[in-house]
Amino acid sequence: MRNNGLVVAIDGPSGAGKSTAGRALAERLGYTYIDTGAMYRALTQAALAAGVAPDDEATLTELLQPARLELQSAKGEVTVFWNGKDVSLAIRTPEVDAAVSQVSSHPAVRAEMVARQQVMGRQGGVVMEGRDIGSVVFPLATAKIFLSASLDARVERRHRQYQQRGVEVPREELHKDLGERDRKDSSRKTSPLAISPDAIVIDSSDLNLEQQNAACARAC
Ligand code: DC
Repeated sequence: MRNNGLVVAIDGPSGAGKSTAGRALAERLGYTYIDTGAMYRALTQAALAAGVAPDDEATLTELLQPARLELQSAKGEVTVFWNGKDVSLAIRTPEVDAAVSQVSSHPAVRAEMVARQQVMGRQGGVVMEGRDIGSVVFPLATAKIFLSASLDARVERRHRQYQQRGVEVPREELHKDLGERDRKDSSRKTSPLAISPDAIVIDSSDLNLEQQNAACARAC
């Protein structure tokens, strides 16, 4: 990790292209890429596997506190480990998609995740992506980007991502899930998805990959 103090925050709704943009930006800058959504997903996956209900804040927090949660990014790929086990694929399923908003809505869960993210980014040299990075995790981030896209554009992208992994999820289902998550992520009490007043807003609906990456690099 480069110890130069720079933190780049990328926030925005699901499917806006944050992961792609964040990975490209991190590579360009020689920074570490941190996908905080993957952390909430890893807890959700562990909870589903252990039979813990997504609304059970106390048990979720008990599950999270002693857990080793590691993210490794190499060659544009992010590997997620939960207690040493590679859960990178298991955290990207429709079941996790459906439960993660509720799991991430609990203040005690968020407090623990935010503390871990602050430790990960403290030395700088990171591109950190999520919903509350510029508003809560690193309010003094060097650059704040809010990446958005229309719901239809985001549904199309998610559909393609699933297809590339050989999973067929109907567009209507993705439309419903993303719309529902937008609503939950934006309306929750603790650090809802919101645009920081000092963020640079990029709408990626009509941008191709190159244009999106260039817009993010310019914003930095
Ligand atoms: O970016 P994603 O779709 O992988 O995020 C999964 C969920 O985690 C999303 O519904 C909202 C939540 N999340 C959050 O509340 N705060 C973050 N910093 C990152 C993700």
